[in-house]
Amino acid sequence: MNILLFGPPGAGKGTQSTLLKEREEMVHISTGDLFRENIKNQTPLGIKAKEIIDAGNLVPDEVTIAMVEDVFSRLKGDFILDGFPRTVAQAEALDRLLEKKNLELGKAIFIHVPHDYLLSRLTGRRVCTGCGATYHVEAMPPKTEGECDKCGSSLMQRKDDNEEVIGTRLQAYENSTTPVLEYYKKTGKYVEVDGIGETEEVYSRLKNVLV
Ligand code: AP5
Ligand code: MG
Ligand code: ZN
Repeated sequence: MNILLFGPPGAGKGTQSTLLKEREEMVHISTGDLFRENIKNQTPLGIKAKEIIDAGNLVPDEVTIAMVEDVFSRLKGDFILDGFPRTVAQAEALDRLLEKKNLELGKAIFIHVPHDYLLSRLTGRRVCTGCGATYHVEAMPPKTEGECDKCGSSLMQRKDDNEEVIGTRLQAYENSTTPVLEYYKKTGKYVEVDGIGETEEVYSRLKNVLV
């Protein structure tokens, strides 16, 4: 089944997508990861997006949509879209793209995590510089501090995971992405999943809506 994963910054979209990718062999498409990869490789797209992302604002629709269209031109298998669409214009573009590719969206899943939890999830997040695995200093610490369990590379903090930028990201989410939820509620494909609890608990709730 092809799915969309929604939720505010820190809801657990990336964490759950990684599990679905490993266990269900789905294709994980995270626009945030794609932008960060472009920034790391200093591509023209990365150079254009860097300042916007570091400040916690949304990259313009036309740039983001073109990047997603490019990924879909090579897509093989069921997809999980993580962090896209984030605006109504992106949702409309996705509808057109799916129609063109003759693909059907199964579910649009909203991971519900109350605001109070998000700041500590984001400030405590650590990301592997080698393989991109995600940890949390309290909820999901690595076996050795500062070192990735999977590949041994060092862990870092995302540049946009500081309090001030998190505030801007949450505001962007409220302003631009909340209307997207309304968009999917009208399609009959919208489902909400409780994102509080152990990662595995959240995962089983997600699996339950994928049947
Ligand atoms: P993006 O990378 O998508 O960031 P985001 O939406 O802010 O979401 P996060 O990645 O911060 O959170 P997540 O839900 O993936 O949480 P995670 O699983 O890591 O986008 C970054 C930027 O790129 C945007 O600000 C924008 O500039 C740009 N961008 C991206 N897409 C765009 C688009 N479509 N249009 C325009 N611009 C776009 O978990 C967070 C932490 O919580 C981790 O430490 C994790 O270990 C921990 N955690 C996870 N689950 C649990 C649990 N159950 N209990 C306790 N802790 C948990
Ligand atoms: Mg993420
Ligand atoms: Zn790693």
